[in-house]
Amino acid sequence: MLFGKTIVVTGVSSGIGQRTAEQAAQMGANVIGIDVVKPKHNIGAFLEGDLSTQAGVDAIIQALPNDIDGLCNVAGVSGTGGAAITLAINFFGLKALSEGLANKIRTGGSIVNVASMAGFGWRQNTKRASTIAKMSGFPDLDQVMNKHDIPNELGYPISKEILLVWTMLAAHQDTFKSRRIRVNAVSPGPVETPILNQFRNVLGDERVNSDVNRVGRAGTPSDIAPVILFLCSDAARWVNGNNIATDGGLEASVTVEELGL
Ligand SMILES: NC(=O)c1ccc[n+]([C@@H]2O[C@H](COP(=O)([O-])OP(=O)(O)OC[C@H]3O[C@@H](n4cnc5c(N)ncnc54)[C@H](O)[C@@H]3O)[C@@H](O)[C@H]2O)c1
Repeated sequence: MLFGKTIVVTGVSSGIGQRTAEQAAQMGANVIGIDVVKPKHNIGAFLEGDLSTQAGVDAIIQALPNDIDGLCNVAGVSGTGGAAITLAINFFGLKALSEGLANKIRTGGSIVNVASMAGFGWRQNTKRASTIAKMSGFPDLDQVMNKHDIPNELGYPISKEILLVWTMLAAHQDTFKSRRIRVNAVSPGPVETPILNQFRNVLGDERVNSDVNRVGRAGTPSDIAPVILFLCSDAARWVNGNNIATDGGLEASVTVEELGL
């Protein structure tokens, strides 16, 4: 599916990003991994980089080659550091990397954003999400938080709401559309990775366990990686601006309950 393709994976040193890189390499891709932390395992080419600032993103873009086939935006943080840094990494850094890299992604390439079931509420918050999704570069995040009443504890779900809205906008953004670059999202529910313990601290065990119980178990990185890579591949050539809930049925369960279906 990915033989000979060049696939860039952010967040490659842990969890879902690590598994995505491993599986891409098994499928014959040339993988370039990016992370702020050095990987403990061999993932092919590795580029140390920080997505939390414009300077960090610019350095990553400059170091990457031309003719990239797929960009998997997997890196993310849980929100425990506050909303400003969470919005910076989970949304503004991801968007700046995608936009800045567009000229280095080949025509017909693919971008996959790892969002979350935590962003499910975007339909209740469309104005905030679309206003922030349309901001360029790295805005003053304290100002953004004040203006849009974003409390520190909601930085994570709000970052994912914005990301889901931007995924739809980006599919029709000239930067990508003019090069036939598809932009899609994958939304996991709870997945057994180091970040899940942080979610347990922020949200409480009860909330996480309730989500897990709805679908029988937590996901694993191996449940998520193949869906990311499918969206990277030409098999998904007519899938664009979409979000694939990859959560064992969690979103369906919540939707049935909320809409009284
Ligand atoms: N694990 C879950 O329950 C879950 C659920 C839904 C969505 N997600 C999303 O999946 C993605 C991957 O999470 P994971 O579960 O693999 O977590 P993880 O903590 O195992 O991995 C995240 C990786 O991102 C890297 N990273 C963090 N800040 C960075 C920065 N500034 N620049 C570059 N890299 C940075 C980390 O070093 C780490 O290697 C995240 O976007 C997360 O929001 C996870």
